[in-house]
Amino acid sequence: MEYYQINQKFLWGVATAANQVEGGWNEDGKGMSIADCLRYRPQIDSNDYKSVNTINSAEIKSALADKSSKGWAKRHGVDFYHNYHEDIKRLADTGISAYRFSISWARIFPNGDDLEPNQAGLDYYLDLVKELAKYNITPIMTLSHYEMPLNLVLKYDSWYDRKIVEYFERFAKTVIDYLHDYVKYWIPINEIDSIIRHPFSSAGLIEDRFLGKNFESVIYQAMHHQFIAAAGVVKYCHDTYPEMKVGCMVTRTTVYPYNSDPLNVLKATKMMRDVYAFSDIQARGVYPTYLIKKLQKKNIHIELQPGDKELLKENTADFVAFSYYSSVCTAYDTKGLKVTKANRTVGVYNKYLSESEWGWQIDPVGLRISLIDLYDRYQKPLFIVENGLGAKDELTDDDHIHDDYRVEYLREHIKEMLISLTQDGIELMGYCIWGTTDMVSASSNQMSKRYGLIYVDLDDNGNGTYNRYKKDSYYWYQKLLRYGNKIPESFLEEKS
Ligand code: BG6
Repeated sequence: MEYYQINQKFLWGVATAANQVEGGWNEDGKGMSIADCLRYRPQIDSNDYKSVNTINSAEIKSALADKSSKGWAKRHGVDFYHNYHEDIKRLADTGISAYRFSISWARIFPNGDDLEPNQAGLDYYLDLVKELAKYNITPIMTLSHYEMPLNLVLKYDSWYDRKIVEYFERFAKTVIDYLHDYVKYWIPINEIDSIIRHPFSSAGLIEDRFLGKNFESVIYQAMHHQFIAAAGVVKYCHDTYPEMKVGCMVTRTTVYPYNSDPLNVLKATKMMRDVYAFSDIQARGVYPTYLIKKLQKKNIHIELQPGDKELLKENTADFVAFSYYSSVCTAYDTKGLKVTKANRTVGVYNKYLSESEWGWQIDPVGLRISLIDLYDRYQKPLFIVENGLGAKDELTDDDHIHDDYRVEYLREHIKEMLISLTQDGIELMGYCIWGTTDMVSASSNQMSKRYGLIYVDLDDNGNGTYNRYKKDSYYWYQKLLRYGNKIPESFLEEKS
């Protein structure tokens, strides 16, 4: 029998974000976060990300006035906050060796600018990582995943103000110091590139607060502050805890030319520059000249402080983490071509691929292409920290979920990853499935877009028992992990 032989240290895991699972939005001293202001809006087509996630000041007002969690899906999540012992136990039973999750910033610094942290918040995460240690699960911790304290938005206009760098560093250092015995892998900011696509839900920027200013300039200035804050985390960890590793984290979307027309190839090359810009800055430590030129052309000027360039240059990421769900095509002239989406990137439909119920095209080979491209570009260890399928699942009368479509998605992606790992000369630290339990979708704020290996009985309106049920994909992952570091090729050939 043929096997994929992999390194013992390879981390097999699952991943979540606090705002999508925790709930407990106003408990034990937690402050309100930007995620608590995102409402599930059934009247909006869930693929219309811009209107779902574009928030204005009036909506923030109504979020502040409503103290219930009804209709605010990220306020209740799947109540991981009260169920984490049982949820972690269930996950540990699959045999995972890593869990990537995020800290709710507002649970530690409720207002963001507080001088002292909220002890209950720190203790919650300490207990959580101790629980993981019980099962030998390595935590991969994201410091900010779409959930900054709302007060920083209202008082300072979020990341646009340089002061936020100081507050983020205070938060980061507090958490790193408190958890340093347990956590060695850190990711300062999730999908740092997403500030461009959804500036509010990613980074708390509200357009109507910047009247008279070019909002695109505002976004790029805020982006620069995020880079500085992330480099500060790298510096702090390297100076204080040299055994720690800090990664950058980007949304990976592979963009193909629609066909071999050189104009389409050129368009795809240019779009790929937009994808690479963020990891280029964090992995290489300099703004790429193509980005500088692009900003000059748009008349956008980023204000740098003395020492910024050196900080970025001297504190590059130790590893390149990324999410991978989908790919898109592009064409010079898109008129008449069918439109599609890859995560929140809009592109042209690829006739060679199938698509999810939310219209994201499914492209396992694209994952292999991404691994080769990213490794060749940076020569740094890579980490797939998110990969999974958002789909509608059905709980049968006898409490099963036959999600063969998800098993198929995972099987195909994991197979391409293992081929790449064993044949392409890349360095890969691990792989995390997006979805432990089901959770609230980041883009559509829905429950019915399910990613988990474990089903949670909860609907889009927040009705349900919160009971958990293991899906077929749970048992499939468990079976895979039982092979340890020698996985039979035949296991990944078997269609479910
Ligand atoms: C990633 C985000 O981009 O995509 C996650 O980091 C998100 O937070 C995931 O959940 C899937 O996207 P969605 O919108 O389907 O939840």
